[in-house]
Amino acid sequence: MPVQIKETFLGKCGAGAEWWRNAVIYQIYPRSFADSNGDGIGDLVGISSKLSYLSSLGIDAIWLSPFYRSPQLDGGYDIADYCDVDPLFGTMDDFDRMLRQAHDKGIKVIIDLVPNHTSSAHNWFQSALKTPMGSAERNRYHFRDGKGENGELPPNQWKSIFGGDAWSRIPGETQWYLHLFDSSQPDLNWDNPEVRAEFEDILRFWLKRGVDGFRVDVAHALVKESGLPDWDGPIKEGSGINFGPMWDQEGVHDIYRSWNRVLKQFSGDRMLVAEAWVQPQSRLARYVRNDEMHQAFNFDYLLARWDAIALKEVINTSLAAGAHVGAPTTWVMSNHDTVRHTSRYGLSEPGSRPLGIDASREQPDEALGLRRARAAALLTHALPGSVYIYQGEELGLPEHTTLDAAHRQDPSFFRTNGLEIGRDGCRVPIPWISGEVSYGFSTAGKSWLPQPESFSRYGADLQHGDSQSTLELYRQLLKLRRDYELGNGTLTWLPSAQGVLYFENGPIRIVINLNDMATVLPGGQVLISSAPIDQAGVLPANAAAWLK
Ligand code: NOJ
Repeated sequence: MPVQIKETFLGKCGAGAEWWRNAVIYQIYPRSFADSNGDGIGDLVGISSKLSYLSSLGIDAIWLSPFYRSPQLDGGYDIADYCDVDPLFGTMDDFDRMLRQAHDKGIKVIIDLVPNHTSSAHNWFQSALKTPMGSAERNRYHFRDGKGENGELPPNQWKSIFGGDAWSRIPGETQWYLHLFDSSQPDLNWDNPEVRAEFEDILRFWLKRGVDGFRVDVAHALVKESGLPDWDGPIKEGSGINFGPMWDQEGVHDIYRSWNRVLKQFSGDRMLVAEAWVQPQSRLARYVRNDEMHQAFNFDYLLARWDAIALKEVINTSLAAGAHVGAPTTWVMSNHDTVRHTSRYGLSEPGSRPLGIDASREQPDEALGLRRARAAALLTHALPGSVYIYQGEELGLPEHTTLDAAHRQDPSFFRTNGLEIGRDGCRVPIPWISGEVSYGFSTAGKSWLPQPESFSRYGADLQHGDSQSTLELYRQLLKLRRDYELGNGTLTWLPSAQGVLYFENGPIRIVINLNDMATVLPGGQVLISSAPIDQAGVLPANAAAWLK
């Protein structure tokens, strides 16, 4: 490895001491985390039962995907009552208890807010259906007359993200309503002040209960271009990035400014994190300007291939865009909408993002994917800013890639007639105890989605205390990241061989070998590595190390 010459210098990711600037946040998909009542679906009491595990992992906060009252037609992202817990997941008391117990352990709690659409079972939509066109009730959504002689054609050509038209016709009427997602998820009309006031109330409801923040679902969709102009282009790329007059409109920023003001009325650095599939990074950075949200998931990082040049470029662009507005970058590799990165990295195009994988498609190389995922963990946790971990990532869990179609529940599978395999494969319940039925996920041995046999090798019980396991790798990484304050640090690139990333952050130097051949490590003490390093200091292929 050549001598160390500083190549690039990137400033700190924003001033300020707020907890979220460098936090490690763990995403819980409640129905798949831990089932306490034996119905095969995870619940809030199940989450409480795993708080010690989470605390020993060393995370700062959890983000819960929706647990609100919902018909569950899109995994709870179809909300019928924003201020109540769905009985599937427990009660409001269970929520309050979980929140208190998390806080007692020093873990903050972020909940999901879904403001773009309600469920069609929501009172508002039900009353809209009962009132005539032009009513105040209908004006909370986007109802429009259809085109054609008898209104038999949709009002415009917009397509749903989940496949098919973005409009559904009210039976027996000329009117249609807009839904960018499933027909059970009508889009709200954010030009209506009543909608704005309602969501501010919802924020206050949960802030008063003590939540530390909100993950804002499809934050780039709330405001549509006025007049809902026709758009026959794609509304998303294969990768997930969105285009067209329904996305990333200037008007969304006013909403987040007003929410920022609401949050400021509560103590304790409450925060908002945007789910916004927009590009380039300079557009994303607009969501985290000083008076708007606080974080935005860095999906460019999630989408980057296993390629040194591509990753370096994304890291540089993201840090620069964040620094421009004084915001941290929020590194993320997996979530409940994407094929798990352990499996993506094991594909022949490593890091590409298929929209689900089934038995008929290329099967990832599990061992290679895991090797790379472990190396990627050393990269991610060494970067300045905040990190999100998707449940099971710390176990090195792969995607379920052979799930039978009969078990699939994702609306995108049905609305595309199976063209998109959908997201069920990354939502399979967590293996806690390898030898048990449902791998210890449920007290009754049930699981709402079948778990693959491979999960028997990934149980948290097997990994606990095994220094070679991915779980212990994550525990150690999180501890070192905290001890050396890497989240608050500064990244400086150092010269490196082709296919190798090499940088320093504070007193730590980080080497990631993305090549399929070994490389010799520069001198120094190895603090942690994703694969064993021999006496001669050789870093194997697809591996990484932190040096001091
Ligand atoms: C993004 C969520 O992450 C996804 O799971 C959901 O289906 C859509 N938004 C619609 O709410």
